[in-house]
Amino acid sequence: MTAVLSAPVSSSARVTPADTAASRGRFIPALAPVVGADVQVPLTDGRTVAYANLDYAASAPALSAVAAEVAAALGQYASVHRGAGHLSQLTTRRYEAARDTVRSFVRGRPDDTVVFTRNTTDAINLAASITPADVVVLDIEHHANLLPWCTPKDGRRRARVVTACDTIEDTLAALEAELASAPASLLAVTAASNVTGEVLPISRLASIAHRHGARILVDAAQLVAHRALSMVSHGIDYLAFSGHKAYAPFGAGVLIGRSDWFDAADPYLAGGGATLDVDVSGTRQTGTTWHTGAARHEAGSPNVLGAVSIAEACTALADLGPEAIGLHELRLCERLDAGLAAIDGVRPLRIFADSADRVGIAGFVVDGLAPRVVAEYLSDEHGIGVRDGKFCAHPLLKRLGHPGGAVRASFGAGTTSDDVDRLLDALTALAADAPTTRPELDEG
Ligand SMILES: Cc1ncc(COP(=O)(O)O)c(C=O)c1O
Repeated sequence: MTAVLSAPVSSSARVTPADTAASRGRFIPALAPVVGADVQVPLTDGRTVAYANLDYAASAPALSAVAAEVAAALGQYASVHRGAGHLSQLTTRRYEAARDTVRSFVRGRPDDTVVFTRNTTDAINLAASITPADVVVLDIEHHANLLPWCTPKDGRRRARVVTACDTIEDTLAALEAELASAPASLLAVTAASNVTGEVLPISRLASIAHRHGARILVDAAQLVAHRALSMVSHGIDYLAFSGHKAYAPFGAGVLIGRSDWFDAADPYLAGGGATLDVDVSGTRQTGTTWHTGAARHEAGSPNVLGAVSIAEACTALADLGPEAIGLHELRLCERLDAGLAAIDGVRPLRIFADSADRVGIAGFVVDGLAPRVVAEYLSDEHGIGVRDGKFCAHPLLKRLGHPGGAVRASFGAGTTSDDVDRLLDALTALAADAPTTRPELDEG
């Protein structure tokens, strides 16, 4: 890899934007064009500046290639599955082909069921509705991979929440001990933390689950657009993700996995499209024969453009290649980490002392300043969009010692080193100002 960094500046020395700009290394361009890259936003001083979008982990902007394909599909859009008209047939083919594209992008098994959902949250709620017995989860999860397991609708399943340890190694041992202690149907884990970006060792987690007779569900919301994933070679039984975090707009998500649980469970939604035959005459109010496969759980008119945009995003991401994506993020991460380390009072968040890989997410706090104050300052005075709060991971934020929340910068294919440098310059100025000229910014 080409070195793009200078040595980190000592954290004891106060640095200025002018000092750091020269020392950060050469310009890193965007990896791929995204829609909205040239959006101008107003500042409180009346100027407008180009928006620095450092909030990809919340929702990534559409890749331009995805937007173009979706716009083309929109021109030929009609109802799916029911119409004999040409556009209906075309749209149905597109919708069904989207399943195959997703399956091959995540290297699923040929007979895996691919259900289009509203988002990851919906996908994991669907997974919860088909899972027969106990589920083991970590306490570091996004609520989407915690609450569906902790609130079973019929009491047939328990969520067994394992406290993550300070290292990945110890956490794997704790999970293994829990799975060995009593049978469980499923281990449900995140692939990458939405708070710190740290990547978990999915193949090892899958081996642990399988060794104890459990299946594994991977919440890939923060990984699928950033690393190569192979359900077959990682041994993943179920995978959930959202289109809007993977450069695909239009609000759809995916749950893909082994078909037997899908087919054995009650339909996720009751209604048209999920049925083979319905008879409500006389006493036969329950005389409904349901489809098997994806249709069983997709009642109602589906989000065709959502599915098409996910498929287009998969194609675009495959074209970019996981190596190029990973390298782009690594360079930006290194630049951001070195810059943050040089700013007094900025403290990066980390869960595991031994994590070796991280997607383009940096969670941090600024001493003495509430996360919302920092985020508003970055937006109002510098046109930089970051996320602040508890990131739907309240147990994790409490464990990290920040129950009031933190700030998160996140990036991806459309990010340049200028975006990162602007954040570092703004934080440098904020940290320099905070003790004297900003007494009102005390932590709330
Ligand atoms: C790791 C993780 N899982 C699940 C979700 C929920 O995704 P969605 O809001 O698209 O349902 C998120 C969203 O931030 C996430 O980061």
